[in-house]
Amino acid sequence: MQKTGLKGHPARFPAKLPEFFIKYLTDKGDLVVDIFSGSNTTGYVAESLKRKWISIELDPYYAAISSFRFLPNNLSEKDLLNAYFSILAGKELKIMDFLMNTREVPREAKDFVLSEKLALDNRDKLKKAEKSKLQVLEKAASFFF
Ligand SMILES: C[S@@+](CC[C@H](N)C(=O)[O-])C[C@H]1O[C@@H](n2cnc3c(N)ncnc32)[C@H](O)[C@@H]1O
Repeated sequence: MQKTGLKGHPARFPAKLPEFFIKYLTDKGDLVVDIFSGSNTTGYVAESLKRKWISIELDPYYAAISSFRFLPNNLSEKDLLNAYFSILAGKELKIMDFLMNTREVPREAKDFVLSEKLALDNRDKLKKAEKSKLQVLEKAASFFF
């Protein structure tokens, strides 16, 4: 997250919390569902404990950034932003395909970046959070075009 300048979820649970309940209540191969998943601590822990998981999150920005948990640490900033904006643009991110292929930025992700950037560019005054969002969009645009 630091690499991209994106802000993480503000209220992450410690991994020990879902770990305790997943171990206590489920066996390997069981399905774990978190309907308020935030940064998806639950899904990440469930995966590491060999459970299946489904996570649901209202805020697409939190859902998109949670994908970083499942991507290798050494991915470039461009690849991370590609994954992030592809999800925000509504593209399914199949991680193995993403890693195996050329990681070309899909048109939907480019369109998303341009329209979000345009919307912020046209605002008179930006709040602090919007300024940092614009910086990330500008960075993505510089990588994608
Ligand atoms: C306390 S946070 C969860 C944090 C999470 N356990 C973690 O470790 O990152 C609760 C999350 O529920 C989401 N949320 C609130 N209402 C929701 C709803 N109706 N459906 C899905 N998610 C919702 C919020 O956007 C927020 O990210």
